[in-house]
Amino acid sequence: MNMLLLGAGGREHALAWKIAASPLLTKLWCAPGNAGIAREAECVALDVADHAAVIAFCKTNKVDLVVVGPEAPLAAGIVDDLASAGIKAFGPSKLASQLESSKGFTKDLCRDNNIPTGAYERFRDAEAAKAYIAARGAPIVIKADGLAAGKGVVVAMTLDEANAAIDMMLGGGFGAAGAEAVVEEFLEGEEASFFVLCDGDNALPLAAAQDHKRAFDGDQGPNTGGMGAYSPAPVFTDDVQQRTMAEIILPTLRAMKAKGMPYKGVLFAGLMIGKDGPKLIEFNARFGDPETQVLMLRMMSDIVPALMASVDGELKHFDLRWYQDSALTVVMAAKGYPGDYAKGTVIAGLDEAAKVEGVEIFHAGTKADGGKILANGGRVLNVTAMGASVSEAQRRAYDAIDRIQWPEGFCRRDIGWQAVKRERDAKT
Ligand code: AMP
Ligand code: GLY
Repeated sequence: MNMLLLGAGGREHALAWKIAASPLLTKLWCAPGNAGIAREAECVALDVADHAAVIAFCKTNKVDLVVVGPEAPLAAGIVDDLASAGIKAFGPSKLASQLESSKGFTKDLCRDNNIPTGAYERFRDAEAAKAYIAARGAPIVIKADGLAAGKGVVVAMTLDEANAAIDMMLGGGFGAAGAEAVVEEFLEGEEASFFVLCDGDNALPLAAAQDHKRAFDGDQGPNTGGMGAYSPAPVFTDDVQQRTMAEIILPTLRAMKAKGMPYKGVLFAGLMIGKDGPKLIEFNARFGDPETQVLMLRMMSDIVPALMASVDGELKHFDLRWYQDSALTVVMAAKGYPGDYAKGTVIAGLDEAAKVEGVEIFHAGTKADGGKILANGGRVLNVTAMGASVSEAQRRAYDAIDRIQWPEGFCRRDIGWQAVKRERDAKT
């Protein structure tokens, strides 16, 4: 099979690594890719926003399956355009990807189908939003309706913060994505990311992971795209998984089908596991980054037939096998991220780091320059390790990181702390 992967991050490197291991693969391209992905795929300088160019590339190169990594091309309808041209693509249609691209759409779907989530209202008018906030009290959560690169959420601990967030969003702070704001109940509990493959009718659970959104140790500092993750997530027990499937995932698939927008592709549920069980924080219409890096390490089965079964509507009788070991990934980012940071700094020691047992290094934002690897983004490397426990995977990942020389980079030193603490407590 010939395949084309769209994207350039650590998520796509992990997907490329897993796809490249498939005996079904003849050739893999990635657009635009990065220096790590170039080890697994031929990187091509295609403009992913130019759907006609992507279609032409697929026809010329007889691409059998396109895999879409990030959300923006999904929301732009790349899967619809490829399908119209007779090219199979993994991921939801433009309408189905509204589960990620419109928070208001998803909240209404939850309300209409009794799917557990925080109480909420949608607002275009700042005064009405502030009146609702005053009535509900703080803490309270303010979200831009549209895609805001993971930055459209303000968890306001005070009424002043909440009102300021409303003024910023409805005042145009996020452009069109913030023309509408969702004001939502603050949920308490422990977060988990759960991934399910869907084919329009059926859902095949993949695995759960826990992400670390804050930039600094101790869950301090600004929210980021994710600074590290591990899987499995101990908080996501079999019972929680069953409830999530029955109360959240399957009702969503049924509702989407009834709306005439069947959901295909991977559905990523961001969940809060509290004392009443799982509640939906948000859906994403794509694999998580950096969660995918740990999921791909743990997946024993070939991923390619699973991606095909999702596109072809044949997941019903499908199953995947997983390693029971734990996987953990630490994000190395350029100093300054998620704010301003420098590009083009030199990273050394990657070969030595990769020699640590169980370690796989995925590139998130790198560029090759002769024999050198240069940083080329905010999140730059994902140092990922398997281990018999989260503690062992964590030790291996940090052993590898200590062999990397990149003075302009930083990482959190406490990725996996919740699971490591649980493992330590279980021993004593
Ligand atoms: P989102 O982009 O919707 O995943 O939100 C980003 C982060 O904000 C989440 O991962 C949570 O940590 C936090 N968050 C979002 N919504 C809520 C909520 N209703 N209650 C508490 N925390 C929330
Ligand atoms: N790690 C969270 C995300 O991919 O949105």
